[in-house]
Amino acid sequence: MSSKTKIFLVAGARPNFMKVAPLISQLYRFPNMFGTKLIHTGQHYDTDMSDVFFQDLDLPEPDRFLGVGSGSHAEQTGRVMIAFEKVCLEERPDLVIVVGDVNSTMACALTAKKLCIPVAHVEAGLRSRDWTMPEEINRVVTDTVSDLLFTPSRDADENLLLEGIPPHKIHFVGNVMIDSLFASLPKSENRNALETIGLKSGNYAVLTLHRPSNVDERKVLAGIVGVLIDLSHELPIVWPLHPRSKKNLERFGMLAALENAVGMKITEPLGYLDMLSLNRHARMIITDSGGIQEEATVLGVPCITLRDAIRAAVFSAWSTNKQNIRIPELWDGKAAERVIDVIVSYYS
Ligand code: UD1
Repeated sequence: MSSKTKIFLVAGARPNFMKVAPLISQLYRFPNMFGTKLIHTGQHYDTDMSDVFFQDLDLPEPDRFLGVGSGSHAEQTGRVMIAFEKVCLEERPDLVIVVGDVNSTMACALTAKKLCIPVAHVEAGLRSRDWTMPEEINRVVTDTVSDLLFTPSRDADENLLLEGIPPHKIHFVGNVMIDSLFASLPKSENRNALETIGLKSGNYAVLTLHRPSNVDERKVLAGIVGVLIDLSHELPIVWPLHPRSKKNLERFGMLAALENAVGMKITEPLGYLDMLSLNRHARMIITDSGGIQEEATVLGVPCITLRDAIRAAVFSAWSTNKQNIRIPELWDGKAAERVIDVIVSYYS
């Protein structure tokens, strides 16, 4: 029998892939100590939402693909738990590492913990205090059952301490997603996403929108779309459409008006490198994605979170000076190295 520590690294949905990439390269630094397996739950499964990220981030083929697909929260979470439990029972990992806050994160953390397998959560401690967000439930449950909690920021440590998590479990390591960003910036420069879409560096806004609270209800979405069409008359906007948003725009009959709006460019979801290149050269970003907000901070691009009354915020961000944007502590491209150093000493 091998004496290596068997580690499962779990990824399920689009925002997980850029977080597991630096962790897997760091685990490969210790080939004699760790036997690492990448488990893809299949929560996201399209070329656009999954495959292209494996190519762009040089991720290895997953060792196991659980193929759970889409469904209601209970269906999706349940399917991940059932499939992941089988794999855990077959292979008996010594540690399960989960990242982020998607349904797959919580499902695999819970499954492992109930089998008494230690769980490490990377990107622990983030809180919105909004319990209508599925991600908030996923974060709190995952953190509660985790044995090692790796945080991206000091306020995340404070959140965990206030919830009674023992300090020795908490490790402030910085932001692994930013590791991927720094590692991929040079490659993103070779992309010609801007030319292909017909944009000029520094003279457009990137828009992303997919939160259920923004796109699932006709009235809310109609309000947002109205403001966006109005804004697109005054500044160029590029919107790579998430499948959830596309489905709803079609269902509510709003897609054609958007596609015909003068300065609005609607695209398919973009791969990691194209999106990075687009974000890097943007004048501003309008988004409801937590990850893109963090990337915007590091890229020094003014970013606003999309709400109803966005006109004033958009124009203020459009004229923000990039020099005034500060990069948070330990968002330096070395977070995954710190995660794996802690795991190495945990097993030494
Ligand atoms: C999920 C995550 C969210 C993350 C987002 C990024 C949860 C609760 N939410 O939300 O935190 O920010 O991913 O994308 O885990 N679909 C496809 N192709 C795919 C995957 C999904 O067409 O490869 C469609 C399906 O019709 C599905 C819908 O998109 O019903 C939504 O997918 P789902 O995984 O349920 O949640 P997201 O909205 O993507």
